Amino acid sequence: MTTSAPSPLSARRGGPISGRARVPGDKSISHRALILSAMAVGESTVAGLLEGEDVLNTAQAMRDLGAQLVRGEDGLWRIHGVGVGGFAAPEKPLDFGNSGTGCRLVLGAVAGCPIRATFDGDASLRKRPMRRVLDPLERMGARVVTEAEGGRLPLTIEGARDAIPIEYESPVPSAQLKSAVLLAGLAAPGETIVVEAEASRDHTERMLKHFGAKIVSKPHGEHGRRIVLQGQPELEPANVVVPADPSSAAFPMVAALLVPGSELVFESVMTNPLRTGLFTTLREMGAKIETIATRDDGEEVADLRVVASKLKGVEVPPERAPSMIDEYPILAVAAAFAEGTTRMRGLKELRVKESDRLEATAAMLRANGIAVEIEGDDLIVHGKGAVRGGGEVTTHMDHRIAMSALVMGLASDEPVRIDDGAFIATSFPGFVELMGSLGANLS
Ligand code: S3P
Repeated sequence: MTTSAPSPLSARRGGPISGRARVPGDKSISHRALILSAMAVGESTVAGLLEGEDVLNTAQAMRDLGAQLVRGEDGLWRIHGVGVGGFAAPEKPLDFGNSGTGCRLVLGAVAGCPIRATFDGDASLRKRPMRRVLDPLERMGARVVTEAEGGRLPLTIEGARDAIPIEYESPVPSAQLKSAVLLAGLAAPGETIVVEAEASRDHTERMLKHFGAKIVSKPHGEHGRRIVLQGQPELEPANVVVPADPSSAAFPMVAALLVPGSELVFESVMTNPLRTGLFTTLREMGAKIETIATRDDGEEVADLRVVASKLKGVEVPPERAPSMIDEYPILAVAAAFAEGTTRMRGLKELRVKESDRLEATAAMLRANGIAVEIEGDDLIVHGKGAVRGGGEVTTHMDHRIAMSALVMGLASDEPVRIDDGAFIATSFPGFVELMGSLGANLS
């Protein structure tokens, strides 16, 4: 749990960033692998699980709800699930720490079980909106017993004894919201349908199929999907191999692009097209990112070679936002070092992440001498090909702001300091050590 004293960190310019970068397992897939294993009957295994604080909190929540989870010395997780609708009432509040994904997905999973459970998290998670998930879950028969003002944590929910299938048109492009409805829909008879106007990451749909559920996803409109899930399946246990997280690879990748003379090879990075908006955008900016090998194990995976590149400013269209929603802080750093203006459009959802990421990203750049504007939901960064640095960045309990600021410091004229690196462990344990082994100067 991240309640310890803040640990400030600094990044300064040094030699090239080079070598082979093995980044930890994908966070989204790791949460889902634990939750679906806990909802299957029998033993599932998960290899390559991200053992960051967010996912470990989800593991603990699964234990508190009655599943058995054991981590072998070889790093393989063995999970004995309790079946759809089989969770037991937890004796204490479920604590999701910093993680919106863990909290919202488990809300969905619990909503289809006739138990009462209290959900809580850290100061950042307590600020984030939960009503977006509670509204459809109430339609499905769950009852919210108590909630903090504005539909926030801590909250207590009573799951439905007889869950009701719904057709739900998602008002925001959120994979967490979609997943919560689908996980609750597992307990309901008949078809639960989610319609999204803009497709969000589809790991839940893919993994439900892998665990034996009947689920069909079809294109809907220009950018959307219509997903139909058959309720009350007997989920079969499965083996999951978690690929490397593209959202974590983003940090060493941008570092290698910015620091002259760098060359990095990434192994087995997940390249699901609903997650690779950053790679597309960086390539449009002139980044040399070469795909060396590809595989498909239920999720597309690739080895990538990245070399230092001169970048130029671009316009990033709003419809790309769902496929790179977590990558705007590090893209803004790349844009700061590019020649010319980068306009990132349609970033409303950034305001409800681990911090108000739109404001936090703008403040991070301004503190280091970059001209930035926020116009409505757009972020505009005026790149000059170089960054002065020398600023102290407030991270607001947000791991991605912390890592983005440190990457900026590796290429700026003067060092960049962050107030707290502790939250990096929520998604990228070993970040400082890995970056150090690749040549980065972090202390
Ligand atoms: C996630 C979905 C996204 C993303 C988060 C992980 C997921 O959130 O920002 O880091 O695993 O479903 P939203 O669904 O709120 O956009």
